[in-house]
Formats: sequence, C-alpha cells, structure tokens
Amino acid sequence: MQKITCSAPGKIYLFGEHAVVYGESAICCAVDLRTQVQACLSDTVQISSVLGDTGIDHDRYPYVSSVVEKMSEITDIKGIKLCIKSDIPVGSGLGSSAAVTIATIQALNLLFECGLGAEDIATLGHSIEKKIQGVASSTDTYVSTMGGVVMVPLKKKLHIIDCGIVIGNTGKFSSTRQLVSNVAQLKKNYPKIIDPILSTIGRISLTGEKMVAKKEYESIGVLMNINQGLLDAIGVSSPELADLIYAARNAGAYSAKITGAGGGGCMVALTPLSEAEQVASAITRVGGKAIITKVTEHGVRVE
Ligand code: MEV
Repeated sequence: MQKITCSAPGKIYLFGEHAVVYGESAICCAVDLRTQVQACLSDTVQISSVLGDTGIDHDRYPYVSSVVEKMSEITDIKGIKLCIKSDIPVGSGLGSSAAVTIATIQALNLLFECGLGAEDIATLGHSIEKKIQGVASSTDTYVSTMGGVVMVPLKKKLHIIDCGIVIGNTGKFSSTRQLVSNVAQLKKNYPKIIDPILSTIGRISLTGEKMVAKKEYESIGVLMNINQGLLDAIGVSSPELADLIYAARNAGAYSAKITGAGGGGCMVALTPLSEAEQVASAITRVGGKAIITKVTEHGVRVE
C-alpha cells in the first residue's frame, strides 16, 4: 500500500468536563465533524494543511509530529507525506487535537501494518495528548477512536442519541491546559467548596446515563443546564459563552452549556430536530458561529 486516508471525529460533552480530570464520570458524544489525514509513502517527513507545509515541527504540528516520532519507535518510517483537512475548529473544545492525533495514528498503523487495535490507538493517542497538554483525560482520544456515546472513565458505550445538536463557537481561542490549571488552583485554594461541586458534576453524569438510555431529551436538558451552572461556579464560563448559551435556550433548545474546557471555544445545545435551524440562527444573531451536526457512531475509519 502506498497511500491511505483515515478520518476521526470531534466530540461534545453532555456532562462532566473538568470533573473527569479528577476521576468523576462524564458522558461524551462523537459528532459528525471530522479530521482527515491522508498518508503517502515518501522519502522525507512532510506535513501539510491550511497551517502550511513543513517537516517534523513541534510548534506548528505538535500532535502529528509526536505521532510520527512515536510510530517510528514501533516501525521503520523513512519518510511520510501527511495531508490534513479538518471541519473541526482548532482550540474550541471540540476535540480537534484528539481527532488529528487518532486519524494520524490509524493512517500510519495501516500503512505500515503495525497491527495496533482500537484500544492501542486510543491509549497511544492519550499518552501523546498528555505529553503535549500536561493534563488530559482519556476522554477525547477514546471517543474519537470509538465513536458513539461513551461514559468515561468506565469506557461504557451508551445508545446513540438522535436529537438536534447545535454547536456555537465564540471564535475565542481557549487553552485547555490553562483552564484545567485554573480549576486545579481553585480546588487547591477552596477544596471544601470545589470538591463537592466536582463530585456533583460526576453525579449528574451518573443520573444522566439513564436518561440517555431512554432518550429523555427534556430531562437530559435539565441536567445539562445544572451542569452549566456548576461550570460557571468553577470559573470556566465567559461572557461570550453565556450570550450564546442563553440565546440557544431562549430559541427553544432543551439545554445549552459549555462543551470542553470553556473560557472561550464552544457551547453545545440539544434541540428538538425541528428547532435546530432556529437555535442556530439565534446563536448567529448574538455573534457566534453556529454548526448544526449530529452524533455519530463512526469513530476512526478509513475513508
Ligand atoms: C477538555 O475537552 C475537557 C477537560 O475535561 C480536560 C480533559 O478532560 O482532559 C477540560
């Protein structure tokens, strides 16, 4: 084989971001926004995307460069040309780094016949995210590899949900590393206040699991909105996120909350299918970039 293209999805959190870093439960869904990596055998290492063309470059392509280096420890990679295309906005809480990491691992895995299975790919992807971000739960890389709706840290697959999913991007870059560190500092300063908030977020996920199984979207929505209040309490919301969240709720969403690290980046609204367009327009009117999408069963795959 000379050439292969693999893709992997981004994700949204129904419940549990930040708390998951401390071992609490979270529920995450792969969504139909994907990053594609085409890998062709070559004499040198070349990486290209809208960010430009380069070789191994840990500033511009930290995830892809690390994957090439790690995979070179498993197999003999003399050269490789990687072309990346993505519909997942970068640094927005939708798991763009996990998706490019996982799609690149699978492309090299198949091209060089390394024999890695899905669990190996997710584990390797997580170790790369952890190395680059400092702290990272295994959620993003696991969901991007497996697809569907997943409860972590149990790694339990739940039934797919089929309501409308509307993402609102504030357009403001957010650093997961910084936000996770802010929460860690708050937890250190006020453990008696912050610890119960994080464990309540974990309990929201455990309660939400039953509602996801029954597709009770109104009840899922109530819990997501409570989760949002708690994310606000730990300091990861922002005025821009709040504007998009309230616009979505007022336009008929079941719920709206931050997804991912917060501080900027994206919010997500769950909507009846018939209301998705209306919620997207409301998000756009208050300055957000709206994306209507759906949950996908498809994790990493060959295109
Ligand atoms: C980022 O998408 C989600 C956080 O919980 C960090 C992590 O799980 O690694 C904030």
